[in-house]
Amino acid sequence: MQGSDHGKNRENAWQAAAAPHSNGVSSDSAPASRRVHDPSSEGPLGLSRRDGALIVTIEREERRNALSQATLEAFGAVFRHHLSPDDRAVIITASGARAFCAGADLKERRDMSLDEVRAQLMRYRTDLAWLSTCPVPTIAAINGAALGGGLELALLCDLRVAAPHASFALPETSLGIIPAAGGTQYLPRIVGAAKAREMILLGSRVSAAEALRIGLIHRVCDAAVAVLEDALGWIAPITRGAPIAQKAALRALRAADRLDIDGGLEFERACYEECLASEDRVEALNAFAEKREPLFRGR
Ligand code: COA
Repeated sequence: MQGSDHGKNRENAWQAAAAPHSNGVSSDSAPASRRVHDPSSEGPLGLSRRDGALIVTIEREERRNALSQATLEAFGAVFRHHLSPDDRAVIITASGARAFCAGADLKERRDMSLDEVRAQLMRYRTDLAWLSTCPVPTIAAINGAALGGGLELALLCDLRVAAPHASFALPETSLGIIPAAGGTQYLPRIVGAAKAREMILLGSRVSAAEALRIGLIHRVCDAAVAVLEDALGWIAPITRGAPIAQKAALRALRAADRLDIDGGLEFERACYEECLASEDRVEALNAFAEKREPLFRGR
């Protein structure tokens, strides 16, 4: 398919240009808002680092940031090649103000065989699902509509902040399919069984205010503030915090989704143990006694 080849070429260019630290810039030495790479004319994803966060921007505004094959592959490449041990958080956002992500690229899908559709669905697991197991917190900064696979992308993240005009829906049943990139599993865990049934069976669209009310998102930013700026300010305590403790807390929290209470409490103890041995724990106690801010080194 010509369109798919074109997408692959664009992604290859992006991968080559965005090799980690290829410009010698690490998170520690980078100025606060330095871009690692500006891919606006090259690939489906933009990659930059700011304030300790790796920022991944879907750059397909003309298709409302829909997830093409190349976009999914590029997400996989972020994890495999670009996530650095210095990154303290990963923010997923998108270009323009209309959509965070309109879900699967329905134009691309129209030309796909059944096997290609199946393979694409697997890509959500191989190339996107890392967001739910990423060693550092993942944040969706939702700049507009999050529909279908776009909402499922946001559900994979640990935290969700949205612009006030953002909207949310899983309309798959109106397209003859189901939300199978984790939607039927993650949504009930986040908003509860009743609301998930309503959203999936009716395909109903939820406003940002309603999403906040039902716990689908954590925060609605001020209309005058870009959602990415809001997200960066909001997660500052994470990027300033103690790295070992942040990672341990994240692992323990995620374990709560899959373990029973006894297993979960055991797991929590093991995670605490990792913090006990850290220099940062001692530094926090010293800083408290000396009435100063702690300087965490991730050791
Ligand atoms: N896949 C491919 N292209 C898409 C797309 C998708 N999921 N969603 C939107 N586009 C394209 C449109 O076809 C249109 O292309 P065109 O200019 O060549 O006609 C372009 O993006 C702009 O779309 P438009 O609907 O005019 O933008 P909007 O800002 O008024 O509305 C949405 C944005 C996201 C609300 C709307 O496009 C929409 O509802 N899209 C369908 C989302 C969906 O059902 N996803 C479920 C997937 S399972």
